[in-house]
Amino acid sequence: MFREGQSSTMGILNVMSTILFIVSSLSLSLAKSGTYIIHMDSSAMPKAFSSHHSWYLSMLSSILDPSEAAAASTTISKHLYTYTDSINGFSASLTSSELEALKNSFGYISFTRDLPLTVHTTHTSQFLGLSSVSGAWTAPNNGEDVIIGIVDTGIWPESESFSDEGMNKVPPRWKGKCESGTEFNSSFCNKKLIGARFYNKGLLANNPKLTIPMNSPRDINGHGTHTSSIAAGNYAEGASYFGYASGTARGMAPRAHIAMYKVVWRDGTYTSDVLAAIDQAIKDGVDILSLSLGLSVDDNILEGDPIAVATFAAVKKGIFVTASAGNDGPLYWTSINGAPWMLTVAAGSIDREFDGILTLGNGVQIIFKSLYPGNYSLIQMPLVYIDECLSVDELKQLRNKIIVCKDHLSISNQLENAESARVSAAVFISNYSSLSELYTRSSFPAAFIGLHDGQTVIDYIKQNTNPRGRFRFQKTTIGTKPAPRVDAYSSRGPFLSCPNVLKPDILAPGSLVLASWSPISEVTFVRSHPLFSNFNLLSGTSMATPHVAGVAALIKTAHPDWSPAAIRSAIITTAKLLDNTLSPIKDVSNYNFPASPLDIGAGHINPTKALDPGLVYDAAPEDYIKLLCAMNYTSKQIRVFANSSHNCLSRSLDLNYPSFIAFFTDEQSTSNQKVVKVVKEFRRTVTNVGKGGMAYTAMVTGMDGIKVMVEPQKLIFKQSYEKQSYKLSLEGPKSLKTEVIFGSLSWVDDDGKYMVRSPIVATSITP
Ligand SMILES: *[C@@H]1O[C@H](CO)[C@@H](O)[C@H](O)[C@H]1NC(C)=O
Ligand SMILES: *[C@@H]1O[C@H](CO)[C@@H](O)[C@H](O)[C@H]1NC(C)=O
Ligand SMILES: *[C@@H]1O[C@H](CO)[C@@H](O)[C@H](O)[C@H]1NC(C)=O
Ligand SMILES: *[C@@H]1O[C@H](CO)[C@@H](O)[C@H](O)[C@H]1NC(C)=O
Ligand SMILES: *[C@@H]1O[C@H](CO)[C@@H](O)[C@H](O)[C@H]1NC(C)=O
Repeated sequence: MFREGQSSTMGILNVMSTILFIVSSLSLSLAKSGTYIIHMDSSAMPKAFSSHHSWYLSMLSSILDPSEAAAASTTISKHLYTYTDSINGFSASLTSSELEALKNSFGYISFTRDLPLTVHTTHTSQFLGLSSVSGAWTAPNNGEDVIIGIVDTGIWPESESFSDEGMNKVPPRWKGKCESGTEFNSSFCNKKLIGARFYNKGLLANNPKLTIPMNSPRDINGHGTHTSSIAAGNYAEGASYFGYASGTARGMAPRAHIAMYKVVWRDGTYTSDVLAAIDQAIKDGVDILSLSLGLSVDDNILEGDPIAVATFAAVKKGIFVTASAGNDGPLYWTSINGAPWMLTVAAGSIDREFDGILTLGNGVQIIFKSLYPGNYSLIQMPLVYIDECLSVDELKQLRNKIIVCKDHLSISNQLENAESARVSAAVFISNYSSLSELYTRSSFPAAFIGLHDGQTVIDYIKQNTNPRGRFRFQKTTIGTKPAPRVDAYSSRGPFLSCPNVLKPDILAPGSLVLASWSPISEVTFVRSHPLFSNFNLLSGTSMATPHVAGVAALIKTAHPDWSPAAIRSAIITTAKLLDNTLSPIKDVSNYNFPASPLDIGAGHINPTKALDPGLVYDAAPEDYIKLLCAMNYTSKQIRVFANSSHNCLSRSLDLNYPSFIAFFTDEQSTSNQKVVKVVKEFRRTVTNVGKGGMAYTAMVTGMDGIKVMVEPQKLIFKQSYEKQSYKLSLEGPKSLKTEVIFGSLSWVDDDGKYMVRSPIVATSITP
């Protein structure tokens, strides 16, 4: 099976760097400490200090445990990072008594524990789809002069995707750089890859005995190379995964620049390192931040999530932030990275399938999903039906045949048996359709087929004295229907710590996306031999997110002055609701019923339309603070976000967001009570970003049991950039009987050029 992130091949590297040496000598004294992120009031710095950094160091030295204070270098070593642009504060390794002492220091606001994060790629390729990277979308620009910052596992700079052929020069405003480290220095950067840095002080503080195999921005995992090339990879000809998905690969914004911030390591990822990366990315001057990682669902609380806090600082500085919703679907409330200032991305399939073909002796062909990398055999082999493949010894006698096994209990045991008996090839018949997706990366020629096809094979074997079969692989089919569909793994809304803003926002291609890969990280195994490739097919919201980052770069090139909220609005209101059969996008995990906005947000991303949305819903940093105030955040909590004291004079849960969610969840109302109606109101302001005067009319799609009202029904704009406001009301029962009802509000201009659509959700679900 495909094992992600294994790096057994790294023996060539000399890893005893100086950093590691210092840390391992420290491990004794730090044995009982934890690492913490400390939020500070930056304005409380006493005048005596020349910088926040020196203030924090001095504060740290004053609270050291007596046993440790003796060592002069301890303060420095306890301190991990000083943060100035993402949050105000620092991270440090502290004992519990030191943490207590710190709490009494002047200017202290709060702390969060340094938490582990994970990247959002599914480890086996469970899910099928297609790469949109190979040029399916055309847009009038290619993201010229926009800088996309990617926080990930590093980058493989030699990949063809990061060639700078055709690239404009590095924007003069860029302050980033390419840091040197193991097998990496500034000469690996160019006009495409303009920055590359790496952060692991937090990882080392949490794991003092660790040795780091590639202590530099170089990617030995593949994930960061993959996400970077999806967002902004240059044209790479001859891309394929062992013959599957072959073609020219390109990122969504092939002329955008890339800056890599490596924070994900083989042995873990920590918020203190991610914060340091975001802090630096803000200073360096990225335009867009793409985050394909996150905390676990349980840890994802806005104020306790330093990434939410740090990205708020980024958005305040005009940086557009997009992040993956997570791979914990398909249940409600599993979405993470749902802070209302980010664009949260769900993952879907595309119209491509990878198959193998089993041809029976009578000419009947059975097509099954596969990513088996070999051509295997074009000659026929005997087929033998064994029913349950339980005996390895029996299977060993059948090595030169294609064995046919049928699942009665567990197909995975039978797969293991066939693997250890080293049979030439196998057909596994199973009642579970999802199994064929799970095992598409089998380590020997194998077909996973359903009961119907399975019966065809069994009948053929039983009716023939000399049954034979032939396998072929590497068949790529384009144009499969229906597509896109939202995949089961994609995390679903609402977002627990801010349910009043509908999340996720958008669906983007995430399943089996072909993109560049680190050639020293194995992509699959054949008969337990690792295979390597410059490209890989991966699935996850990790892959969906950089598609959105790339599209944001296209918008930024077309509209350099648009705020992050305006870019987000353009992406949301132009999304496609229909799949390639012109029916609503379906949910794989729900019997292919239409997906709701809690699965796919507004729908599938539509890059060309997003460049010219007609109207946008803008929002300023103060609007998010008003929302936090209305969520009853304490002034201390607000202070972590606001970077100054804030008295919450104005509060509103009703953010100027291009989507709507209302909860009809009054538990008191009982069925025999007369149905009491309630009205939920939303006020929104739209800005005309079309050329000159425009007139728009409201169009609402019906919602069963909910009355949708819009006032006024018409919005007249006399000129560009004029704003107009309206009110949307949803009238429904206090307690809705259905879990989720959805519809939409569209503003359609008189010439029919623009349709500015917002999803509406009425729901009775509670966490
Ligand atoms: C907080 O404000 C100060 C002063 O305006 C600024 O220098 C600093 O970068 C800000 N920090 C954050 C995290 O926004
Ligand atoms: C970077 O490393 C390469 C290969 O090790 C070397 O040839 C080159 O001179 C180095 N460049 C710099 C700027 O150090
Ligand atoms: C598989 O067969 C095709 C077509 O005959 C050929 O182009 C390709 O190189 C073969 N691949 C391998 C891995 O042998
Ligand atoms: C296949 O699964 C379905 C649903 O779980 C079940 O109703 C059916 O009996 C199964 N069929 C066989 C042949 O096991
Ligand atoms: C905030 O507190 C007020 C007053 O206690 C309460 O009515 C309101 O429901 C709370 N809001 C949220 C979002 O919890």
